[in-house]
Amino acid sequence: MIRLDPRLLAARERLSHIKLVVPVMSSKGGVGKTVIAGTLALLLTKNNVETGLLDLDFTNPGLHILLGADIRSWPEEEKGVVPPKIYGVRFMTAAYYSGDEPLPLRGRYVDEVFKEILCITRWPGVEVLVIDTPPGIRDEALNILTYIPSPKPLIVGTSCPLAVHSVEKLIKVLRESNHEIIGLVENMADQPGPLRRLSEKYGIDYLGNIPYIKDLDTAIGSPDKLVELLSPYLARVIEKIRTIIS
Ligand SMILES: Nc1ncnc2c1ncn2[C@@H]1O[C@H](COP(=O)(O)OP(=O)(O)OP(=O)(O)O)[C@@H](O)[C@H]1O
Ligand SMILES: [Mg+2]
Repeated sequence: MIRLDPRLLAARERLSHIKLVVPVMSSKGGVGKTVIAGTLALLLTKNNVETGLLDLDFTNPGLHILLGADIRSWPEEEKGVVPPKIYGVRFMTAAYYSGDEPLPLRGRYVDEVFKEILCITRWPGVEVLVIDTPPGIRDEALNILTYIPSPKPLIVGTSCPLAVHSVEKLIKVLRESNHEIIGLVENMADQPGPLRRLSEKYGIDYLGNIPYIKDLDTAIGSPDKLVELLSPYLARVIEKIRTIIS
């Protein structure tokens, strides 16, 4: 008989009250996953949805930088850890423990940190959990798809042919493993492009394009500015999530 790691059972229990888990995924790097995951969590909170945000990019965690979160203030410990609220979002990252030191991890250790973080973290009151993921269809992504109950990924890509091919591969993996995809966002694109055609081909909701925003890098670390710059473009994603959880 195969025994599950008890930490995974604990992790499932910790997540059991959450209505929707949304990993923001792309098999291509640098397409805007972190910016979109963080801003989406801020916007859901503004829309009165209790939201948690989890950084599962262990080697390159960036959400605390995006949110300007002080990682020196540790999560409260009470039968596990309760992540602090940053701009209303319950935010968990391994960076609370690793600081800004590098955390190079080989496969097996990625697994260990993954199980540990999911098993210790409590998400009181959280309805939607947004997860930032590293690029690729490797350990972290596969762990999310395997161990988290019913995650519904949001796929992010750009119009660049390199990204489009990579998105199509991710769609195939998600389809083959029977995962429902919330939708697709085409980032750094002035108009709907190849990702809209791809979403039509696979019958996936196209949730809009986000243009290249010249000032975006100046908003990193300023949640109010991120929300101001990106909210018009994430409205359809918010609407879709609200429909799913209502
Ligand atoms: N719509 C946009 N307009 C302008 N710049 C953007 C836009 N979206 C993202 N960027 C910028 O692109 C860079 C990469 O974004 P981000 O770190 O969110 O990508 P990522 O997919 O999370 O990368 P990684 O795969 O390395 O985790 C950042 O400098 C970010 O500010
Ligand atoms: Mg990232």
